Amino acid sequence: MLSKKMQTALNKQIVAELYSAYLYLSMSAYFHSISFGGFANWMRVQAMEESTHAMKIFDFVNERGGRILVSAIEKPATNWSSPLAAFQTVYKHEQKVTGMINSLVDLAITERDHATQNFLQWFVSEQVEEEASADDVVQKLKMVGKEGGGMFMIDRELGQRVFTPPAAEEGGE
Ligand code: FEO
Repeated sequence: MLSKKMQTALNKQIVAELYSAYLYLSMSAYFHSISFGGFANWMRVQAMEESTHAMKIFDFVNERGGRILVSAIEKPATNWSSPLAAFQTVYKHEQKVTGMINSLVDLAITERDHATQNFLQWFVSEQVEEEASADDVVQKLKMVGKEGGGMFMIDRELGQRVFTPPAAEEGGE
């Protein structure tokens, strides 16, 4: 059984993950509007991943006999000054999410909730990947600057990203 404190914190994290999905969907729309289909695809896949993060917590809370209580999802920005600015926002946002996950782990330790602490380890590892993949694009964008050929190449590369459901990633667990 989840403690009230843990339940509230996990409910909050579900909203944070859904906000992430909404933010990246908004970025996908932004990239469409400036005709970068590959960047738009990357963001769309990222948004889908965030939805699976929310659902993972949703399922866990239910499994532990907790109660999901939905609340409002904040409206994300709709425009960025450049592709680099958008990806810098992603990187910063993911660092913030890492902080949130770490706080959840801290709370699970304080509450002596070993099951939740164990569950959260997947998110701890995922955040390492999330930060690294956002930073990778930031570095590439910094390298090419405003050079059209380089931007075209990055757009083509990001256009190849496909959504992989977490269950398939983990070997059908
Ligand atoms: Fe669900 Fe990007 O963290």
